Parts: sequence; structure tokens; C-alpha cells
Amino acid sequence: MTIISLLIFALLNFLLQNEALVTVTEEDFKTAPQSLRDFWKTCGSYVQLNESFNTAEFQSFGFNSTNAVDRYDLYRSICGWNFVGSQNCPLEIFCPEVDLRPQGCQDELAISDGLGGRVNVCGNQKFTKPWKATQGGRDLFVRFQILRNYTKDQLSKARKYKGFRCIVSCSKNGGAGAKPLPQKGIKKTMIKNCACGEIPEKGGRVVGGQNATRNEFPWIATIVIPGTRVSFCGGAVINSHYVLTAAHCFWFAKIAPQQIEVLLRSHEMDFIDQSSTKPKSEIMKELIATARRIDEAEKTQRFKVVAIKNHPLFTTEFDFDVALLRLDRPVNFTGPNRTTTICLPKFDYKNTYLGAKSQVAGWGLMDEVGNASSQFLQKLEVPVLNLDDCRRVLPKSLITERMLCAGYMEGGRDSCKGDSGGPLVFQKPNKYFEQIGIVSWGKGCARENRPGFYSRVTELTQWIYYNSNEPETKWCQEI
Ligand SMILES: *[C@@H]1O[C@H](CO)[C@@H](O)[C@H](O)[C@H]1NC(C)=O
Ligand SMILES: *[C@@H]1O[C@H](CO)[C@@H](O)[C@H](O)[C@H]1NC(C)=O
Ligand SMILES: *[C@@H]1O[C@H](CO)[C@@H](O)[C@H](O)[C@H]1NC(C)=O
Ligand SMILES: *[C@@H]1O[C@H](CO)[C@@H](O)[C@H](O)[C@H]1NC(C)=O
Ligand SMILES: *[C@@H]1O[C@H](CO)[C@@H](O)[C@H](O)[C@H]1NC(C)=O
Ligand SMILES: *[C@@H]1O[C@H](CO)[C@@H](O)[C@H](O)[C@H]1NC(C)=O
Ligand SMILES: *[C@@H]1O[C@H](CO)[C@@H](O)[C@H](O)[C@H]1NC(C)=O
Repeated sequence: MTIISLLIFALLNFLLQNEALVTVTEEDFKTAPQSLRDFWKTCGSYVQLNESFNTAEFQSFGFNSTNAVDRYDLYRSICGWNFVGSQNCPLEIFCPEVDLRPQGCQDELAISDGLGGRVNVCGNQKFTKPWKATQGGRDLFVRFQILRNYTKDQLSKARKYKGFRCIVSCSKNGGAGAKPLPQKGIKKTMIKNCACGEIPEKGGRVVGGQNATRNEFPWIATIVIPGTRVSFCGGAVINSHYVLTAAHCFWFAKIAPQQIEVLLRSHEMDFIDQSSTKPKSEIMKELIATARRIDEAEKTQRFKVVAIKNHPLFTTEFDFDVALLRLDRPVNFTGPNRTTTICLPKFDYKNTYLGAKSQVAGWGLMDEVGNASSQFLQKLEVPVLNLDDCRRVLPKSLITERMLCAGYMEGGRDSCKGDSGGPLVFQKPNKYFEQIGIVSWGKGCARENRPGFYSRVTELTQWIYYNSNEPETKWCQEI
């Protein structure tokens, strides 16, 4: 057994990520006592546990450390610790020491699973058993939050509270010794007359080609250069405020929210003519004029993005290749040719979708070397392959549980550059569609023995819900 204390992970990530919600400046950090610095350092940490790396411990700064009290104004707000389980390691959490301000749970440790399970721990609560996620979930998210400021007088009394210490570990015996969290999380607010994964109005069929029909993928989102219809990645609408896409679209180029826009109800895209000798400003003017015209014709909904949430465990080998875009206003799900959401799959890690005929759509499906992008939305049917078979043909690549491979070993048909972030969808027996993959990576496109790789949505669902279900977000019904 390997025990890690999160303090070893002195990542300083609190200055870099929005996950760590404590606002400290470098000056604060330099002058703070060591116990407090250690606490800040672990704020917002993300740790994945597995069979060999199976226990993590974290603790508060300790109200009983003398200097801490004087710095109280700085550790108000929120501190989070996030634990990701894995195939043979569903997680459980036990806090042997909890000693927090009891009145009305003003200082609380909120433990949740993103699936509706949540417990608020405060006061001098004793754990009798560990907690685990509901619905067979593997991941656990913890936040310490101080919901009401202390007065000077209360502050001196606060010294008597010791804080907390918690241990997260792989559950044994399928979690038999742990209790599922109570259903006290944020409820999903549903929209009437809106079903996810439904195609409300399908245009005429396209014969012979791979053109998608207008509105055939009413959840599809296009991520574009602001003001234009020049697309660089795709995505899918999952609720009133969020688009699900791939982290690699933003991570490498450090794309900020103001550098992109999201289009819904869009079918026809535009291009930058690489061979043009016109000045940049002139090209931009033309792109914007074309966008105005097509936006109007297609009744496109155009959104600004207020936040890009890349998965904090994303790696350059494209593990955890998932991101969420928060839109600046709610999506309109009514009217003719309306947008709808894609369903997230039912929470079931065991469903590998092996052999499932799934569909991928995007504007980049054409070919690898050519001027790949297509003007009109393209679609392609791809069967889901066995992950071990894909490992065999690509022995040098890191292929993880978070990946799904699909396509044709003989080559010829595949998703490609420009499709990144777009959804891989599966039609359920009841005809509604759910998203099982996110276009992620491949070695070239459509080559022999080079299937396409997608982020496996069932493995990422808890992170997706935890980061996209807010009191004001609304969801379409699941049928
Ligand atoms: C377990 O996790 C550690 C740390 O993230 C990693 O180095 C190791 O390769 C993992 N082991 C397995 C079997 O996945
Ligand atoms: C509080 O102080 C006691 C005694 O000095 C120490 O054993 C304990 O670890 C401290 N608690 C925390 C959470 O730091
Ligand atoms: C706590 O105090 C800070 C400034 O000292 C203030 O900005 C904040 O609004 C206060 N929070 C509450 C809940 O009163
Ligand atoms: C809806 O889409 C169809 C094509 O599928 C198009 O002919 C029709 O004009 C659209 N309706 C509106 C109101 O945009
Ligand atoms: C795809 O649709 C466009 C616009 O409707 C059309 O010009 C093109 O010929 C179609 N391609 C195929 C292969 O059907
Ligand atoms: C949504 O779109 C429909 C049709 O385009 C329009 O009639 C309606 O007013 C819009 N609703 C909102 C809240 O903008
Ligand atoms: C790509 O476009 C350029 C000009 O924009 C053209 O010269 C070239 O032949 C095209 N390549 C392919 C493979 O279509």
C-alpha cells in the first residue's frame, strides 16, 4: 500500500487554476505560516488513485496552529480536493478527525459525487463508516468552505476547533464497507417539452454522400474564431449553458474564452483562403460579412464563452481529453429547427459499447493531407472497436481507460483534424441518441490499422456533471 499525503504535491496550482478558489497573492503566500502555505498548495489538487497508488490523505491548516488565526481573512472562501478513481479502484472517504464550527454548518466540508450524492460535514461529526459515490460512481469531490465570516470575537474562540483530516482510498469488496452519499446534491432542473438526443425535424435524406442533412445533429456546436464561421473544433450541447468538447482544442495554444465563439444551428462553414494575397484586415472583413449572411439564413445562435474548463488531468498524450465551455447565456431550445441537447450515457462503466454502430459528425472529415475541411457538416458511421485490438496495432502509444477507439482497421474512413471535440453518438434502441465519445486523436486519418481515438464519456461523466450542473443550468428530459 502506498500512502500519499497531498502535501507532497506542492503544486502551487492555486495560483494557476480556477479549481482552487482561494484568492491569495504571492505576497500573502510569502508571509503566511507554513501550515497555511501547505493548505493553499493542496487547494484545487486533482489526484487519480489506482491499485498501486491507492490512498491519499489531506487535512486542514489546523485551527489550533497559533498563527493561522491571525491570517483568517485569507482562508475564508473555498478550497477543493478532487479524487478520480479508476477501473479497479472505486473510491471511498473517511475523515477520522472533524472539528469545525458547528453553528448552522457555516464552516463545512462538502463531499459530493457529481451525481446528486452529497453530504455536508461540520461541527464535531464522527464518521462511523466511509462514504462512497452513489450509482456506482468512482470519483469523489471535496470542498471546504467558510460560508460566513468570523467577527474578531468569534475568531479568538475559533482557536478551539481543530479542523479536519481525511483519507481517500480504493474501496475493498466493491465498497461493501461504505455508505453511498445521501441524495442531497444539486438537483437537475428539467425543461418541459425538450428531450435530449432527439432529432425534432429531420430534413430530406442525402443520397450517396456523407453530407449530414440540416438539423440531423441538433446538438452539434461549432467552435469558431469570433465573428466568423471559421471553425477549429466541434462540440455538443449537454444542457442550457454547457458545451462538451476536447481539452486539446484549447490546452496547447492556451486559448482563452474571449478568443472563441460557439455556434449552434450551423451547417455551412467558411474558410480562410491560404493563397490569398489580400491584407489580413480585408480577409477578416470578408469573413465577417459572410458570417453575417449565413448566420441570418441559418438562424444560427452565436454565443460568447465565459469559461473554458479543461480537465485538470489532461496530458500531452491526450488522456482525460475533455473540456466544458460555459456559454454567456442560456441556449434557446424552442422554435423551428430547434437545438436540442445530446444525452449523456447512463452511468455504467461496464458498458464498453463494443461493436456499437456509432456516428461521428464534423467539418473536418474529408482527408488528412487535403484542404481537409468541408464546407458542409459531414457524418460518418464508425463501429466501436475493442480497446485491446487498438493497443495491439499502436503499441507505442499510451492508450488508457479514458479512451475509446472506433473506425475501420482497413482504413479509408475516419474522423480527422477539424473534427476534434465533436461528438461520437450512439442511437439507443428507443431511437434517442447519447454521446459515447469525444473526437480526440489518431495517427493521421483513415490510414490502415490506425483507428480513431475518442475520449470515453462513461469514464468522464462524473467530472462532466460535477462541473456543469449548477443551480441555473437546465437539462432536457431523458427518455
Ligand atoms: C497509478 O497511478 C500512478 C500515479 O498517478 C502512476 O504513476 C501509475 O502508473 C499508475 N499505475 C497504474 C497501474 O495505472
Ligand atoms: C492540532 O494540535 C494537536 C496537538 O498539538 C495535533 O496533534 C493535531 O494534529 C493538530 N490538528 C491539526 C488538524 O493540525
Ligand atoms: C467577508 O468579508 C469580506 C471582506 O473582509 C467580504 O468581502 C465578504 O463579502 C464577507 N463575506 C460575508 C459572507 O459576509
Ligand atoms: C428548417 O430546416 C429546413 C431544412 O431542413 C429548411 O428548409 C427550413 O427553412 C428551416 N426552417 C426555418 C424556420 O429555418
Ligand atoms: C453536400 O451538400 C452541398 C450543399 O447542399 C452540395 O453542394 C454537395 O454537392 C453535397 N455533397 C454531396 C457529396 O452530396
Ligand atoms: C427562441 O427562438 C424562437 C424561434 O426562433 C423565438 O420565437 C423565441 O422568442 C426565442 N426565445 C427566446 C427566449 O429568445
Ligand atoms: C489545397 O489547396 C491549394 C490551394 O488552396 C491547392 O493548390 C492544392 O492543390 C490543394 N490540395 C489538395 C490535395 O486538394
